[in-house]
Amino acid sequence: MKRKILIHPDPRLKKVCEPVADISDELRRLADDMLETMYDAPGIGLAAPQVGHLDRLIVLDCVKEEGAAPRPLVMFNPEIKAASDEVSVYDEGCLSIPDQYAEVTRPREVEVEWLDRDGNLQRETFDGLWATCVQHEIDHLNGKLFIDYLKPLKRQMITRKMQKLKREMARA
Ligand code: NI
Repeated sequence: MKRKILIHPDPRLKKVCEPVADISDELRRLADDMLETMYDAPGIGLAAPQVGHLDRLIVLDCVKEEGAAPRPLVMFNPEIKAASDEVSVYDEGCLSIPDQYAEVTRPREVEVEWLDRDGNLQRETFDGLWATCVQHEIDHLNGKLFIDYLKPLKRQMITRKMQKLKREMARA
C-alpha cells in the first residue's frame, strides 16, 4: 500500500527518530509500503519519518541502469561506522522537497551497519550514489534535510517555495 509522503516544512521531518527495538510484522509491512511508495514516486531512497513514522527505518535502491535487477534494501537502525576523508558532490533532491535540487558534499565512501528485515546484522561499504543516498536517508532519521547543508538564503528560498506548494495542494 502506498503511503502519503510528507512535504517540508513539517515538524515530523525535524524529529530524531527512535531506534527499533523489535522488528514486528507491522514494521516489515511499513518497510514494504515505503519501498512501493519510493518506486512509485519515483525515488531512490525513503526514510520512515517522510511517511510520518518516527522509527529508525530507511529503504533504498540506487540501481539506475535500465533493465538491471533492482536491489531493494531495508535498513533498521542504520549506523555509519566509518566514512572516507575523500568526498563527492551530488546534485541531491528529496521526495519531501519536490523538484528542488542542490549540490551537497559528503564522504565518498561509508561503512554502514544495520539490521535487515529478519533482524540479522548487516555491514557493507557503499560508494558513489549509494553512499550519498544512504547518508541522506540516515540524516532524515536525525531530523536533518539536505537543504540544511545549504546557505541560509538558499534554504529559505526553497522553504518558501514548499510553503507555497503546500498551500496550493491544500486548495486543490
Ligand atoms: Ni530525502
